[in-house]
Amino acid sequence: MSTTLLDSLIGRGSDGRPPELARRRRGSGDGGRSGSARRGARAHAPSVRDGGDTRASHTPVLAVELLEVLEPQPGQTAIDCTFGDGGHARLLAERLGATGTLVAIDRDPLAEERFAALAAEASCSMRFIRAGYAEALEMLAGEGLRADIAYFDLGMSSMQVDTRERGFSYSYDAPLDMRMDPSQPLSAREIVASWDERRIAQVLRDYGEERHAGAIAHAVVRRRAQAPIETTHELVETISSAIPAPARFAGGHPAKRSFQALRIAVNDELGQLDRALPLAWGLLREGGVLAGISFHSLEDRRVKRFFADLASGCICPPDLPVCVCGREPRAALVRRRSIVPSAAELEENPRSGSARLRAARKLTAEEDA
Ligand SMILES: C[S@@+](CC[C@H](N)C(=O)[O-])C[C@H]1O[C@@H](n2cnc3c(N)ncnc32)[C@H](O)[C@@H]1O
Repeated sequence: MSTTLLDSLIGRGSDGRPPELARRRRGSGDGGRSGSARRGARAHAPSVRDGGDTRASHTPVLAVELLEVLEPQPGQTAIDCTFGDGGHARLLAERLGATGTLVAIDRDPLAEERFAALAAEASCSMRFIRAGYAEALEMLAGEGLRADIAYFDLGMSSMQVDTRERGFSYSYDAPLDMRMDPSQPLSAREIVASWDERRIAQVLRDYGEERHAGAIAHAVVRRRAQAPIETTHELVETISSAIPAPARFAGGHPAKRSFQALRIAVNDELGQLDRALPLAWGLLREGGVLAGISFHSLEDRRVKRFFADLASGCICPPDLPVCVCGREPRAALVRRRSIVPSAAELEENPRSGSARLRAARKLTAEEDA
């Protein structure tokens, strides 16, 4: 599709971005978006903001590209599995029009507040489900909902990372928390206070790809034997003390990988994603599109493999003369490669640095939710 035609379809302005995006200010660059940030990006510079600013807003990442792959049409039904600040949802809602429906999911009560503001303005039918997206999608499947579009914008929102008292950021001194759903019992404080050394090391290794996982876990256990680790800065100090000086700032902030790992563990992010991808796929009608924006390789690998498996046909051994499996592709990849932010987006929003978008279109009418 030509850029001009696409521009007119999505109402993009002269800077190549939808007008709604032009009104949004930049996200503050804290490194809140998880994963390996673009080399040289300022994604890990501390962000300065006074107090717990619950009005922080989230700049939607790869928004133009997401609209391009989803191609929302008036009257369609879309599921936003990670509503956040509603940046993507707002763009979708405008295109679904008065006859369309947007179902929004988020486990964060702050997202529910933001939803109420959007629902008051939007012309399409809107519904919010406050739950983990795996549970919400299961519920929608039980209701028999069918959708044309479903998408995930994974990880945490700028609202979450910039609300310092929620303890997501190593840049702010705050209680160790990191819960997206503040009513769930498990917090980062709980993990740091009570999980055994091996389990903490495993989390840091598996979810943070932290080379010094064992030393950090050992330092945590040693320190908590003297006094509980209750704040982000106490944890940052403990992590830094366990990393050899030359390696301390080699890959960005020394606590970056450990904070990512703890956040993933607290919120069971990968378990939720593994459950939710097939559920979201199962809700799509034939021709529907599922898209995922991920921010680190642990998420992106899951989305990529899920789509690759759906898009693959015959799985018979190559030495069989004829196909006996009868397997047909159930999906077509919307793009063969992942879509990454443009130079303009990287410049405007350094937090988009590690984002990757993948999407697949459903080729069959099967119901497998
Ligand atoms: C990156 S933000 C989404 C931002 C949104 N697309 C926007 O434009 O404002 C991710 C959101 O997903 C939510 N989230 C993450 N994992 C979730 C899960 N398993 N279930 C429900 N919500 C989840 C977070 O609470 C957060 O608000």
